[in-house]
Amino acid sequence: MYSLEIEGGEKLSGELQVSGSKNSALPLIASTIISKNSVSINNIPDVVDIRTLVKLIEMLGGETNFDSNRLEINTSKVTKTKATYDIVRTMRASILVLAPLLARFGHCEVSLPGGCAIGSRPVDLHLKALQEMGAVIEIEDGYIKAKAPDGLVGAEITFEKKTVTGTENLVMAGALAQGKTTLFNSALEPEVIQLCEVIRDAGVQIDGIGTETLTIYGTGGELLDFQTIDVIPDRIEAGTYLCAGAITNSQITLTSVEPKHIEATIDKLEEMGFRFDISEDRVTIFPAKKIKPVNIVTAEYPLFPTDMQAQFVALATQADGVSRIEERLFENRFMHVNELQRLGAEIDIDKNYVEVHGLGELRGADVMATDLRASSALVLAGLVATGTTKVHRIYHLDRGYENLEEKLNALGAKVKRIRD
Ligand code: UD1
Repeated sequence: MYSLEIEGGEKLSGELQVSGSKNSALPLIASTIISKNSVSINNIPDVVDIRTLVKLIEMLGGETNFDSNRLEINTSKVTKTKATYDIVRTMRASILVLAPLLARFGHCEVSLPGGCAIGSRPVDLHLKALQEMGAVIEIEDGYIKAKAPDGLVGAEITFEKKTVTGTENLVMAGALAQGKTTLFNSALEPEVIQLCEVIRDAGVQIDGIGTETLTIYGTGGELLDFQTIDVIPDRIEAGTYLCAGAITNSQITLTSVEPKHIEATIDKLEEMGFRFDISEDRVTIFPAKKIKPVNIVTAEYPLFPTDMQAQFVALATQADGVSRIEERLFENRFMHVNELQRLGAEIDIDKNYVEVHGLGELRGADVMATDLRASSALVLAGLVATGTTKVHRIYHLDRGYENLEEKLNALGAKVKRIRD
């Protein structure tokens, strides 16, 4: 196992290129199951979650070649339809193969994702919607066993709650269904939009892309003809590095970024006193005269993302006053709080709500990464803590951040990966 050792107190400066979006690449890779041709996907981040899904596609019989952020996938020889527990348990997003396998083969088995570090995270909405399209689903021995021998049939589906991967699964289901599928209360995240655009470019009419109501005109089982895909920039990685600039009160520039996708994050940083220079695909953050406290409630896109909550809790430790942050999407997503407290942060926690009392000094210590975004919050805190912070279990970080320490060190941070 590896840890990151961070010497705090360095100012950052310079430019950093944002990687492709992990959360966009995952559904795109899964969608190649319903492609009739070999598909090239550019700007794929080389992170563990992507390697996991690529491995799953290979286990199903697909052929892949992943090199220099470009992934070539040919799923024409896929014959297996079972996503086993040992893969799914390491990455919940494996659930994204459920709809494409079912739509193409008429049956599949996907292990239930089970418990997860940030709450129970059920997949009931995915299953209910597929049942409305005619799928027969049973849960047996920890597996979702789905069948639709005569193919999926278009339906009108209303998601009780907005779900990102749920919407993505149903867009893929609708693409191969017979007739028209309408999805009400669809998620609006940029990753959902990119998947819809890719499937539209592959020959499926989709109306309402970018709105809560998506109408998909299915091919009735015919596989799709995919074009080359360029994955959109990772808005959460971008937001995390903006927080690195902010927490060290430094000027840094992000390149290859989509400013529109990080508006909610930039708005909150502006409220805290940071200034910005924004152009088409570059964002520069300038230091604040005084870092002000902030109030945040997490919500669905385009509002403030839950995936940026932990980083702002870390940042709030440097604000002049009390910040109030509420997590509305996931229960149990404040595990970074205990670890930040080990560094000396003054944080009061009440279930899904925290008050962060800023301006206390953070002091380096050993801390434990608990989930992907919580881990990045600990790294951010380490950048300003006095002395050395050692973040253990960084395999969580490796799931979603490409070359994290190289990127931070290029900006002047002192971060070292060491074997425990
Ligand atoms: C995706 C992102 C994740 C992000 C989350 C919320 C990917 C691979 N992951 O996760 O990084 O934190 O969106 O922006 O894109 N829910 C149900 N039943 C379901 C599905 C969801 O109750 O069947 C609930 C969840 O428990 C949660 C809420 O709906 O409270 C939203 O979850 P969802 O949007 O589905 O998250 P993911 O797609 O898993």
